[in-house]
Amino acid sequence: THNYRITLLPGDGIGPEIMAVAVDVLKVVGKKFDIQFEFQEALIGGAAIDATGEPLPGSSLDTCRNSDAVLLAAIGGYKWDSLASHLRPEAGLLGLRAGLGLFANLRPAKILPQLIDASSLKREVVEGVDILVVRELTGGIYFGKPKGIFETETGEKRGVNTMAYTESEIERIGRVAFEAAQKRRGKLCSVDKANVLEVSQLWRDRITKLAQEYPDVELSHMYVDNAAMQLLRAPKQFDTIVTGNLFGDILSDAAAMLTGSIGMLPSASLGASNPGVFEPVHGSAPDIAGQDKANPLAQVLSAAMMLRYGLNESTAADHIEQGVLEVLQRGDRTGDIISPDMNLLGCRAMGQALIQVLEAK
Ligand code: NAD
Ligand code: IPM
Ligand code: MN
Repeated sequence: THNYRITLLPGDGIGPEIMAVAVDVLKVVGKKFDIQFEFQEALIGGAAIDATGEPLPGSSLDTCRNSDAVLLAAIGGYKWDSLASHLRPEAGLLGLRAGLGLFANLRPAKILPQLIDASSLKREVVEGVDILVVRELTGGIYFGKPKGIFETETGEKRGVNTMAYTESEIERIGRVAFEAAQKRRGKLCSVDKANVLEVSQLWRDRITKLAQEYPDVELSHMYVDNAAMQLLRAPKQFDTIVTGNLFGDILSDAAAMLTGSIGMLPSASLGASNPGVFEPVHGSAPDIAGQDKANPLAQVLSAAMMLRYGLNESTAADHIEQGVLEVLQRGDRTGDIISPDMNLLGCRAMGQALIQVLEAK
């Protein structure tokens, strides 16, 4: 029997609803593959603010550090939107990523054949899309200093953030991306704004130098504005994309729509040594929270990424991913991926349908 300590961070909004489904799925898969999960829940985001006054209590970070992997749902909501930035739910998530040194965020966007008609783009544009966005996660404009709201000499307020990358930060995310590209189709596109930003000029320079160590990877560069356009125009030109924190945030939400819904996209946040955090690309969806409408599959697929990348249990990960394909094949759909003649299910019912499929396999 394999034994793992898993920290669960359900967070806010739809977080607890989709987390409940993922935990049920893990239990079923655990039984099947003789894996024992010891789950421990911890507070983050708005839920942590309400209970403790802080978005990431030290005890939550400790619990995460002392586990084999962390499964996170989502944080944030209207209730906490007017707090100062260091007290907001989002600060908890950023603190978690920084605290665990999770500099590499892998965001796969792969269209499932069953969902081609759920995409807002034409079938011929999205059929076969299989992209991995490698997003730098602990640097760039999210963390650069100076940052804050300051007063100018004329008494006016001035908001400041700083986009900065050191050579070593660029190099370590670059290595993750080149290695990922080697295991995929051998193509890497580095996305930046080097026509305007010095930080991007350094980025492009270091990534270009690094390419010499990966002669089997074909490297290209693209400006971020063009990349946003190309993702929607002809997404199949992309294999692996590497980019900074902010550009990666934006481009991965755009890439989500190639696959039908952001409710389908999982991610893995990895560092050099600490446990990884596995989290959907989407947020806490406050507009549908508490209504049993959320698509739980991004969360379930994040649990599969946890098994694959965090725990080395790839057979169990395959089983979950296959189960997701099968449940979609049956025609089961949540509202975000519904199309004519399909069965509309809520979050919980989708979870039950998936479990039925997994138990029958
Ligand atoms: P969002 O991703 O929460 O929602 C965007 C839209 O997508 C909404 O219409 C929502 O209903 C829909 N959606 C998202 N996930 C879905 C799912 N699983 N099933 C069905 N529909 C889904 O982004 P937002 O509205 O810009 O942000 C809401 C809050 O979430 C904010 O507080 C934001 O800071 C936070 N957020 C958190 C994370 C995270 O925890 N990793 C990520 C993004 C945003
Ligand atoms: C994401 C989210 C976060 C980010 C926010 C909530 C801090 O949008 O995980 O994509 O910008 O990284
Ligand atoms: Mn985002």
